[in-house]
Amino acid sequence: MTSFEIRPSTEADTEASRRVVAAAFGDEAEQVVGVWSDVVARGLARAQLVAADGDEVVGHVGLSHAWLDARSELIDILVLSPLSVVPERQGTGIGAALLAAAVAEAERLGVPVVVLEGDPGYYARHGWAPASSYGIEAPSHRIPGPAFQVVALRGHEPWMTGRVVYRDVWWEHDAAGLRDPVLAQVEMSLPD
Ligand SMILES: CC(C)(COP(=O)(O)OP(=O)(O)OC[C@H]1O[C@@H](n2cnc3c(N)ncnc32)[C@H](O)[C@@H]1OP(=O)(O)O)[C@@H](O)C(=O)NCCC(=O)NCCS
Repeated sequence: MTSFEIRPSTEADTEASRRVVAAAFGDEAEQVVGVWSDVVARGLARAQLVAADGDEVVGHVGLSHAWLDARSELIDILVLSPLSVVPERQGTGIGAALLAAAVAEAERLGVPVVVLEGDPGYYARHGWAPASSYGIEAPSHRIPGPAFQVVALRGHEPWMTGRVVYRDVWWEHDAAGLRDPVLAQVEMSLPD
C-alpha cells in the first residue's frame, strides 16, 4: 500500500526534488538535473509539482516554456520534463498521478499543447499521442519519431501545426533528443 499526495513544489522542496530527479535518471542524472536547474534559474519553469509521502518527496514533474512555430504565429506551449519517481516507489501509480496533475496544471495555465520526449509504451496509455498525428514536428530529427508526444488541451485548434522550438537551455546542454551511438540503437529497436 502506498500513500502520497501531489502538490505544488515550494522553495523548500528544491534540494529534495533534485535528489529525486537524480535518483530516477541514473546515468543521465547529471544532464537532466543540469537542464532543469538552468531552466529554473532562467525563469523558464512554468510549474513544478511534487509527490510527497508525509515530509518525503518521492516524485517530481516540471513544465517549462517552449514555442510552437505555426504558420500564422509563434505559440507558447509547455514541455513536460523531467518526470521522476524514486526507484523504490516506481510502479505504484505515482508517475501516472504526476502526469495527470501536470496536464491539469497546463490546462489551468491556458496553453493549447504540452509536448514531451519519452517512451510511448508508457505515455500512450495516459492519453499522449505521437506529435506527428497533430502535424507537430520535433525540435530535432534526433528525437525518434514515436518518442515525441503531445497532449492537446482545450485551447488546441487544428491550425496549430509546425515545429516545436526549445529554449536555449536545451541546446546549451545538448539535451534535445539523442546522439549516436545511442540514437542508432534506439532507432533499431523501434518497429518499422
Ligand atoms: C517513468 C516513470 C516516471 C514512471 O513512474 P511510475 O510511478 O513508476 O509509473 P506508474 O506507477 O504510474 O506506472 C507504472 C507502469 O508503467 C510501466 N512503465 C514504466 N516505465 C515504462 C516505460 N519506459 N515504458 C513502458 N512502460 C513503463 C511500468 O512497467 C508499470 O506498468 P504496470 O502498471 O503494468 O505494472 C518512472 O519509472 C521513472 O521515474 N523512471 C525514470 C525516469 C524516466 O525515465 N522518466 C521519464 C522520462 S521521459
